[in-house]
Amino acid sequence: MYALETPRLGLRPFEQDDFEFLDALETPRLGLRPFEQDDFEFLVALNADPDVARFIGYGVPRTREETREFLEHVLTAYEEDSLGHLAVYLKGSGALVGRCGLTLLEVEAEPAGGKPPQWYWFRGGAPKGMLVVNEIELGYTFSKEHWGCGYATECAKAMRDFGFRELGLSRLASAIAPENLASKNVARKVGLAYSGIVTAFSATFERHELSSNEWIGLINAA
Ligand SMILES: CC(C)(COP(=O)(O)OP(=O)(O)OC[C@H]1O[C@@H](n2cnc3c(N)ncnc32)[C@H](O)[C@@H]1OP(=O)(O)O)[C@@H](O)C(=O)NCCC(=O)NCCS
Repeated sequence: MYALETPRLGLRPFEQDDFEFLDALETPRLGLRPFEQDDFEFLVALNADPDVARFIGYGVPRTREETREFLEHVLTAYEEDSLGHLAVYLKGSGALVGRCGLTLLEVEAEPAGGKPPQWYWFRGGAPKGMLVVNEIELGYTFSKEHWGCGYATECAKAMRDFGFRELGLSRLASAIAPENLASKNVARKVGLAYSGIVTAFSATFERHELSSNEWIGLINAA
């Protein structure tokens, strides 16, 4: 580690503590804030709905234990990566309605025999020894009673803009099950476009992505 001095200034490497992770974000109807341990029961209920679970992960409801693990991963990612899914609530009532955010992925760098690369969620998710590159995923999941209100699009656009504008990301990507028409519609409305196939959770997903240059074009055209 180095440190430099001039007559009036000191220079030192940045540290994690120099970056304040987003602690609040707003859209016209929704608020987003980091998850807390107290949100566990909300996540349990969200993850237990088979219709919500159908196109995420292994496509089956998660147990309380799996949800506990998920929440721990999210809280660790806030600390380690300054990234993670946020809790989404209605500004009017404060009721939680879903989650939306950016997650660090480990992507298999050299898939054998031209196979699609494997995606692994969270730091350390890939098998030990596998050569990986990092990617930032934009994700969203809402309670069924709040589907069809435009909430996912509203939140995903806010996270997209935060990712490019505040975090300076060069690209965002999402893995979407081919049959998940609702999610593909959200991705399209947010500006992500199909860019190939990936493997995750032993299944095939479509990769949709948006580069920072494309995002600048979108913002300028809006
Ligand atoms: C995918 C999901 C987040 C969409 O949330 P939402 O708040 O209902 O989405 P929006 O209201 O913003 O709708 C976005 C677009 O998708 C369309 N849409 C919504 N549900 C749809 C469905 N079941 N089939 C086809 N299109 C659908 C909407 O009509 C809208 O398009 P439009 O404005 O052109 O009419 C929600 O269905 C969900 O939580 N699903 C379970 C978890 C999941 O699959 N997450 C995504 C993983 S990749």
